[in-house]
Amino acid sequence: MNVKYFIGGFDKNICYLIWCDESNHAAIVDPAVEINPILEFIESNNLVLDKILITHSHHDHMKFIPDFLNQFNLLKIYISHISSKKLGYISLSDNQIINIGTEIITVLETPGHYHDSVCFWNSKDKKIFTGDTMFIGRTGRVLSEKSSIEDLYHSIYDVLLKLPSNTIIYPGHDYGYKIYDTMKNNIESSKFFNCQNFKDFELVMKNFENNRKKR
Ligand SMILES: [Fe+2]
Repeated sequence: MNVKYFIGGFDKNICYLIWCDESNHAAIVDPAVEINPILEFIESNNLVLDKILITHSHHDHMKFIPDFLNQFNLLKIYISHISSKKLGYISLSDNQIINIGTEIITVLETPGHYHDSVCFWNSKDKKIFTGDTMFIGRTGRVLSEKSSIEDLYHSIYDVLLKLPSNTIIYPGHDYGYKIYDTMKNNIESSKFFNCQNFKDFELVMKNFENNRKKR
C-alpha cells in the first residue's frame, strides 16, 4: 500500500493519501490539511479518490471534508459507529475491513484520546494510522470531556503495542522527532510506552501535563 503524507491544517496535522498500485484506487486518512497539493498529487498520479477515513471526530481532523466533497461528489466518508449517525457518515466498528482497491485496511477501535478514536491497520505492509491515539514520542492527550485515560491505557497497551515491532506508525500530528517511525523505535524512545501498569501510565501522563503548564 502506498502512502503519501501532507502536513498543515490546524497544528502540524498530517493528512495521508493511501492507494493501491493495481487499481489506483485511493483514500484519504483525515482530511486535515489544505486540499490543493493533495489534488495536484491525485491528478498527476491518475489516482481515483473514493473514500475518506476519519480517525476521530475532533474538528481539526475533519476540517477539509467540504473541500473534498466539492471536488469528488461520490466520496464515501467513514467514521466510528459512535459518531457516524450524528455526522451522517458510514459507520465503522472494531475489526471491520475496508478495501482500497486490492489493499485491505482493518479498523481497530482505540478509545481514550477521544471516545470515537479508531486506528487503520494494513497488516500486509504493517502500516498503522493512529490519529491522536499514538504520536511519535508520546500518546495523545486526554483533555476532552469524552477522553478517558483508562481507555487510552488499554488502547495503547492491549491493542497498539501488541502489533509487530516493525509496524510503521503514521500519526495524526507531526509532534515527534520524525514524521513516522517503527513501533520498535517508538517504544525504545518514549517512557509513555514502557509503563508496567495503569498507575505507572497515569503518572507519566500527569507529569507530562504538569511540565506543559509551566511553559
Ligand atoms: Fe484529537
